[in-house]
This record gives sequence, C-alpha cells and structure tokens, in this order.
Amino acid sequence: MGVFDVLLNALDVDAAIVTDPADMTYLSGYDNADCVIVVTRDRAAYFTDARYTEEAARIVGEKLKVVDGRLAPDALQAIAASGAKRVAFDSRLDFASYRLIAACASENAFELVPCDGVAAKLRIVKSRAEIDAIERAQEITDKVFEEILPLIREGIAEYELAAKLEYAILSKGAKLAFDSIVAFGENGSSPHAHRSDRRLKRGDFVTMDFGAKWQGYCSDMTRTVALGEITDMQRKAYQSVLAANVEGVAAVKAGVACRDVDAKIRKLLAKDGLDKFFVHSLGHGVGIDIHELPNLSPRSELTLQRGNVVTIEPGVYIEGSFGIRIEDMVVVEKGGCIDLTRSDKNLIIL
Ligand code: GLY
Ligand code: MN
Repeated sequence: MGVFDVLLNALDVDAAIVTDPADMTYLSGYDNADCVIVVTRDRAAYFTDARYTEEAARIVGEKLKVVDGRLAPDALQAIAASGAKRVAFDSRLDFASYRLIAACASENAFELVPCDGVAAKLRIVKSRAEIDAIERAQEITDKVFEEILPLIREGIAEYELAAKLEYAILSKGAKLAFDSIVAFGENGSSPHAHRSDRRLKRGDFVTMDFGAKWQGYCSDMTRTVALGEITDMQRKAYQSVLAANVEGVAAVKAGVACRDVDAKIRKLLAKDGLDKFFVHSLGHGVGIDIHELPNLSPRSELTLQRGNVVTIEPGVYIEGSFGIRIEDMVVVEKGGCIDLTRSDKNLIIL
C-alpha cells in the first residue's frame, strides 16, 4: 500500500486536501509551499502554477500528477469528479479557501473532515533517508558552531553575530531551519529573545540557538558560552543545566513516556533549586518542521518510538540577569538514543 492510501485509511476518508507546508513537503519531496496537494482514491495531484510547474514535474512527477491549476476551481473539481464522500482538510487551510471548499461540499454532497495535520502522525517516525538528511543538517550546524566561536568578541552586537552565523549556514548550501536566536547577558533570560543591538560585554553568557535545513529537514541546537570571567552562581547554574542535558539524553529510549522524561529532568533541576527557572518543555520533535511531534512536555500523551528525532533542551532563565540553554538533538533507538549533536557542551569561556 502506498503512502497516499495509508494516509486516507488513517483518516478514514476517501480524499484529502493538504495545505500544511510540511505535509506537502513530506508527501511530495519538494520543499515548496505554493501548492495544494489533493489525494483521492485513484490519484494524487500537485496543483501549482507556472512559477513552479517545471521544477515540480522534475521533482515530484513520478509520485504525483503535476497540474497547473488552483485550489478553486481545479482541485475542487478533481475532488467532486472522484465521487468522494468524506474529504479531510488540515488546520492550515485559510478561511477564504475553506468557504470555497464548503460551497463545493454542499453542492456535491461530501462531508468535510477537519484534522490537525493530514500527515503529522505519519511524520513522527522518521525513515533512514529522513534521518540521514537531519544528520547532515546537524553536521552543518556543528561546523558553523566551530567557525563562529572565534568571532565572538567583546563589542559585537547580537544582530551582527546572528548575521555571521546565518551567513555560515547559507554559504554551506543549506537553508535556515528558523530565525536564529542570539542573546547576550540579561537578554538570555527570554528563551526566545529577539536579537537586538545589545553589544557583548565580559561576564556575559551568549546563548545561540540555531539550525540548518538540509533537503527539507531541520536541525536544532543551542549552545551557551561565556565571555571573560563569570560568577560562581553562573558557573553553578551552567553545570546544573549541563547535568540536566546529559541526564535527559540518557533517559531517552523507545517505550518511555515523553512526559516522564520531562518530569525526570524537572526533578533533577529541583534538587539545585532551579526548576522554577525552567519555563518551557524539555524538548520537541524535529523533522521537516522545526517543532513537530512528539513533544517532551508535561502535557504529552505520547510514548517515544524508535525513529523519533527529538531535542533535549533544558534551560534556566533568571530575569534581568542571564539565561542558559543547552540543546542536543537525538534519534530514539530501542535501548537508548543516538545523539546527533557533536558540538562541545562543556562550559566554554572565551
Ligand atoms: N530552536 C528553537 C526552539 O526549539 O524553540
Ligand atoms: Mn529546540
């Protein structure tokens, strides 16, 4: 059974309209958001326009029929003609398109079945080829970290360091997995600080959270380094976060509940009185999207499976003072995991 039948069966529908960019990349192998994929029982078609039809035919032509057309009327006509009775659509569909689809559904008497993401569940377990792409994205990320360390000097601005980091990723032929986070000193206490013109001073921590996208697949890494002498309190907090990262990686294996890994690390940080400063989940899945299932969070109901790729990213954020996060990305295996992140995570003082 092909992936398209698996998808329709899993959703218990006989057609699906896919508009989630990550699902479209997953189903087509083509990293292009300007399209709509329509899956029916007898065909899967890729609707795009003349800006992309040539590339699309070359990349997806064997799997999907490429159509120079739009959601309405072309894709909708294909669904109506298929005689489908239950048609899934995902939560990324815009409201204007939804109205067109709803009108088509009432005219052709088919039921619309909303779902979070048509292929999100299929994407949780990665294939060998997907893991290879993620591994390559991480190799690039590790190389960029090595190259960037000598550029971290007193007086550089956050936006300058972020630009150098992103240039290094792009010049290796990769894309950015997301807008890199570069935060100095007190700015690091916002886990997702926006880069600013803050200049680096001695005694600052430097948090860098960045990743490459290779053949459509992301990597995600955070390293926190220091410039010049830091206080004992900063040093102790760093060692606690490092221990949390190491223990988190050690706790990952198939069959373990995601929320139990998160709870274990929260407990570990509590021993050092730091759990109240750990304000986000321990980790998340990584793949075509930078954040995907499964989440390692207190609310997760999922269990780790072999072939999941997840981050382990404990952090401590002291408002007005500093932040520390150390993030690795691992592949879940039967009795443990493979850490794809090679960059040094011992405290680096520049
Ligand atoms: N690297 C960004 C994040 O995980 O939220
Ligand atoms: Mn992350």
